[in-house]
Amino acid sequence: MAGQEEQAVKYYTLEEIEKHKDSKSTWVILHHKVYDLTRFLEEHPGGEEVLREQAGGDATENFEDVGHSTDARELSKTFIIGEVHPDDRPKLAKPTETLITTVESNSSWWTNWVIPAISALAVAMMYRIYIAED
Ligand code: HEM
Repeated sequence: MAGQEEQAVKYYTLEEIEKHKDSKSTWVILHHKVYDLTRFLEEHPGGEEVLREQAGGDATENFEDVGHSTDARELSKTFIIGEVHPDDRPKLAKPTETLITTVESNSSWWTNWVIPAISALAVAMMYRIYIAED
């Protein structure tokens, strides 16, 4: 066989990964890496169920939300079987949408003073009418 230093990364497409979502074969994606957790399900301190729910898909967010210990992270490395194919990675990237409310500053600059100006004018006129009526 080839030298041991030659460690080609195995890439899996999302289509392929999605097939491994039952107890016969349970894969999850964490940070673009593919983990085969089939044998780990029963040993997982956090329970089988949470892993099953994520099977065949990206569990990164849930994994991080739990705040797994360094030990857990070390252990997780032993289950890595490959990586998500680079072409498929953009499909995974769904960063928690940070809503950047880009106010169209161009269109609003004039409303910023026109509206107050008109309001002021209206108040001034009402005041005049009020005074005149006296
Ligand atoms: C390779 C993958 C994983 C490994 C090796 C792993 C390992 C562990 C370990 C060792 C613990 C005990 C607490 C700690 O040391 O942090 C734990 C707890 C837990 N894990 Fe995982 N885990 C993995 C993936 C996941 C995933 C994908 C989820 C969620 C979908 C998850 C959810 C939980 C939960 C809910 C707990 C319980 C936390 C608590 O009781 O406070 N784990 N895991």
